[in-house]
Amino acid sequence: MKTMDSQLIRLHFIHECIIKFACCTLLLSAATTGKVAAGELSSTFYDSSCPDVISIVRKVVAGAIQKEARMAASLVRLHFHDCFVHGCDGSILLDDTADFKGEKTAGPNLNSARGFDVIDDIKTEAENNCPGIVSCADILTMAARDSVELSGGPCWTVLLGRQDSKSASLNAANTEIPGPSLTAAELGAKFQSKGLSLTDMVTLSGAHTLGKAHCNLIENRFRNFNGTGTADPAISSWFVRYIVNQCSNTSDGSQLVLLDSVTPTKFDNRYYENLIGNMGVLSSDQVLFSTEGDTKELVKSYCGNQSAFFNNFVTAMLKLGNLQEEEEGEIRKNCHVRNS
Ligand code: HEM
Ligand SMILES: *[C@@H]1O[C@H](CO)[C@@H](O)[C@H](O)[C@H]1NC(C)=O
Ligand SMILES: *[C@@H]1O[C@H](CO)[C@@H](O)[C@H](O)[C@H]1NC(C)=O
Ligand SMILES: *[C@@H]1O[C@H](CO)[C@@H](O)[C@H](O)[C@H]1NC(C)=O
Repeated sequence: MKTMDSQLIRLHFIHECIIKFACCTLLLSAATTGKVAAGELSSTFYDSSCPDVISIVRKVVAGAIQKEARMAASLVRLHFHDCFVHGCDGSILLDDTADFKGEKTAGPNLNSARGFDVIDDIKTEAENNCPGIVSCADILTMAARDSVELSGGPCWTVLLGRQDSKSASLNAANTEIPGPSLTAAELGAKFQSKGLSLTDMVTLSGAHTLGKAHCNLIENRFRNFNGTGTADPAISSWFVRYIVNQCSNTSDGSQLVLLDSVTPTKFDNRYYENLIGNMGVLSSDQVLFSTEGDTKELVKSYCGNQSAFFNNFVTAMLKLGNLQEEEEGEIRKNCHVRNS
């Protein structure tokens, strides 16, 4: 796995989003062949080969979010789950077939990864505009950035030039994507194994300022904490009632609750305020504050300073987006299937 050096990250972090960039001639030949060696990502990658792609992605994502605000959350999560399994290579988008096993049935994805139809809509427009040029992995990266910005979060220049994988790993999706009952130390270790720091972990968890989670994942904390038959005593009783009430309509845990019930569709630092108020929904959220140490200090600092959160979020998203494996890829024609 490669991560970008921090100077490069600072270079690419801008406070105001500029859609067009000056063309870097050194990268033109790479752009026209649609190939780039792992690690060689560039903000100008499609400037000559598909100059409209940035606005195509923005337009489709904006339309999707207008239809359903939660789609922003789903697209950000899709990019995360793509990047955590063999790097950002569109592997999560591949469908299972008779002789191919993808990642869609992995525990963290099954019945919860969503937004595939939006990626398809973007890909269709990109193929109409410049066939065979734009990778599905780059579409995911741009869609995640646009989702954050269009929800009121920070914006940044994405780096592009990823290739789509010719393989996927169900096993890695099951074992490498973190689960909601891990401890703070275990969460930190999962991120560290990808070259991401504890700070990156706490910062990226702030994406839970958007979106929803299934009730069955939180029963343990809200209904039967550690086998006691009641909620975790640390959670305020009114918040337990609020969540349990929303989860009570069906008994199979298939209902959804908001991860940030205060400002659910706004990308802000409310997630951290919620943790301090013991209103974390997932165990993996609340442990970031309930565990003494660095994660708790970061939660407190982001709670008091949204721009510190935004700045670090951009840095961490660039690092996440830069995860790549040294493997020959392709530009898929259809994000659901490998070309050959
Ligand atoms: C720190 C470890 C993490 C754990 C344990 C975790 C776990 C989860 C779980 C269990 C859900 C609910 C899924 C469902 O019930 O359908 C969820 C949703 C979500 N996660 Fe995470 N997550 C983590 C990190 C991240 C990161 C790094 C991002 C992005 C940068 C992210 C973005 C999201 C978003 C936006 C949602 C809501 C999705 C939607 O509404 O469709 N998560 N996460
Ligand atoms: C859960 O219960 C076990 C056994 O009763 C106990 O040792 C452990 O400390 C409890 N954990 C928490 C988080 O309360
Ligand atoms: C549960 O049912 C009540 C009453 O029918 C409804 O008002 C509420 O929106 C439902 N909650 C969820 C989360 O579906
Ligand atoms: C908030 O964070 C920003 C960025 O890290 C920093 O420049 C600023 O001084 C902080 N503000 C306060 C009040 O601590």
